Amino acid sequence: MRKIAVFTSGGDAPGMNALIRAVVRGALSKGIEVYGVLGGYSGMIEGNMLKLGKKETANLISLGGTVLKTSRSKEFMQKGGRAAAAEKLKDYGIEGIIACGGDGTFHGAHDIWLEHQIPIVGTPGTIDNDLYGTDYTIGFDTAINTAAEAIDKIRDTADSHGRVFIVEVMGRHAGFIAMDVGISAGAEFIAVPETVTNLDQLYQRILTQGKQQRTIVIVGEGDEVGGANTFAQILKERYEIDAKVTILGHIQRGGSPTVRDRVLASRLGVAAVDALLAGKTDVMVGEINSEIVYTPLEETWTKRKPINDYLILLADILT
Ligand code: F6P
Repeated sequence: MRKIAVFTSGGDAPGMNALIRAVVRGALSKGIEVYGVLGGYSGMIEGNMLKLGKKETANLISLGGTVLKTSRSKEFMQKGGRAAAAEKLKDYGIEGIIACGGDGTFHGAHDIWLEHQIPIVGTPGTIDNDLYGTDYTIGFDTAINTAAEAIDKIRDTADSHGRVFIVEVMGRHAGFIAMDVGISAGAEFIAVPETVTNLDQLYQRILTQGKQQRTIVIVGEGDEVGGANTFAQILKERYEIDAKVTILGHIQRGGSPTVRDRVLASRLGVAAVDALLAGKTDVMVGEINSEIVYTPLEETWTKRKPINDYLILLADILT
């Protein structure tokens, strides 16, 4: 293998740039050329590629977002789009690809391998931490730290007024962000999609706190009750409780990656190059108990990564 490509796709995540840097430098150390695909799968279809060297990856380790840009390409979901992308990759002489993204990215990667036999290795890049086959995804640690810092500030004002605050965090269908952020922020109630949310229990917690005390409620955006606005509406209509709503939103996706995300991205980037060279394909490179592991791409979305049961218990004990 003499020429490979790297790209980022789906929602950006802090640490994607550190991953790109690690892929390029890991490959260069083995005498392999690297091309960066600009704009995710859309850029692949257009053949939008750029040769990357040591100079192009300088100062990337601490940069948020992704310098290669990203997209959620509808065209690539069609066979024709994937065929056009494969043609472009072959034109450039690309013999292997490293993808960084979440389950949407891996669906596309799996398909292009099946249909066009271009070796492809995935690396987990998403703030949601919802991929089976790795303890943590690149970007998760930064996102939870950003959210926890914001909630510390909300707590000051909530405390001063003795108010109820409902804070909605991202995570799509998974509650990893909500759980870690809720515990670290000392929230009184945490609602995650993985468990059934008991609104009467929430009401009791607010009563226990009393009028002078603040109540912080963390809601994972995928909770079955709904988002923070729905919680506030139910609290008002059913229990006559006024609550303030904060939706943290895309602030959770930005910013300089934490040390943990930088190290994880660096390790997985180099491991992905090694995996391609070892002839692996259609797998995601992840880290479990500090060891590098390879999981078939399909399993990363068909198998569900559970929230640690102990954290659910812990959240209950501490609140
Ligand atoms: O997958 C990452 C994520 O930030 C989710 O937490 C969120 O549901 C989604 O992406 C938002 O996507 P977009 O920025 O395309 O609206």
